Amino acid sequence: MDRVNRFVLLLAVFAMNVLAQGRGGQGTRDFLGLGAPPDPVAAERGEKLYTPNCSFCHGLKANGAEGPDLVRSPLVLHDEKADLIGPLILQGRPDKGMPAFASMTASQVSDIAQFLHMRVELAVNRGLYKVQNIVVGDAKAGEAYFNAHCKTCHASDLAHVATKFAPVDLQAAFLWPASGRGRGARSTKATITLSTGEKLTGTLKRIDDFDVSMVDADGEYHSWPRDRVKVEIPDPLVGHRELLAKYTDEDMHNLLSYLVTLK
Ligand code: HEC
Ligand code: HEC
Repeated sequence: MDRVNRFVLLLAVFAMNVLAQGRGGQGTRDFLGLGAPPDPVAAERGEKLYTPNCSFCHGLKANGAEGPDLVRSPLVLHDEKADLIGPLILQGRPDKGMPAFASMTASQVSDIAQFLHMRVELAVNRGLYKVQNIVVGDAKAGEAYFNAHCKTCHASDLAHVATKFAPVDLQAAFLWPASGRGRGARSTKATITLSTGEKLTGTLKRIDDFDVSMVDADGEYHSWPRDRVKVEIPDPLVGHRELLAKYTDEDMHNLLSYLVTLK
């Protein structure tokens, strides 16, 4: 039996155990690195707030509409007890189309967070039923998808990616590459355009509502009032963020089936 088959078998046994216990249970959550299970009563209260306030942008089931999919959102996945969702709801990201809900109470925010975690939970359990099939998509179709959507950025760097990740981790790696905790510490590159039109590229040191500072390519330190310059922070994962909203379940299965062949 090769490694992939053994892994699938392991998952199948694992899934059977979980199902035999009659619950989608904490075991699965630990396995997938998720936090405490959501509280169904709070989630139901949360849904009543979510529907009128959020669903027209994020979809009735939080799968995304005009606003992003929240079920696959790294921020939601990494949230614990509304520590990330809470500030986001209260402050919004008005410059990016996410309004602030400044008057929501802590318990309302917490209920909405529980609702979103419940959506993730349901998506995970839906995956659980299919877990035995995790790598039986169509590898050829996956390769075609890869050539059409991924190759521009990954010409050859993923040639042995299947030796680096087990299938489940590989799925997470291509769905949201930067979601691993601790990867945020990487330095942020930015381009600053001065009022004269001159552009400087370097490593961002600090940015807030008032000031921005960077060290340029020659190692020289600069700082400006925030409103005097234009700041552009290229996001290397923008491609992935856009793709996340586009994959169908079939695309994901096909892609994974292709990626596991890259050894
Ligand atoms: C008018 C449309 C709109 C409404 C209403 C709205 N959002 Fe958003 N939301 C957005 C947009 C657009 C973004 C993406 C912002 C960005 O690109 O950083 C976003 C981002 C988010 C994110 C972060 C996703 C991520 O992975 O970064 C969360 C969580 C979220 N919204 C939750 C909510 C909740 C909860 C509500 C209701 C209380 C809500 N939103 C209402 C448009 C909306
Ligand atoms: C616009 C450019 C771009 C596109 C398009 C793109 N990626 Fe990526 N991908 C990246 C960047 C940047 C990273 C992060 C590399 C890092 O953090 O080391 C990454 C990381 C990954 C990783 C994790 C690799 C690792 O070793 O951790 C996988 C797997 C991956 N991408 C698969 C895909 C697949 C599959 C597609 C197409 C469906 C795709 N990518 C499309 C830019 C892109």
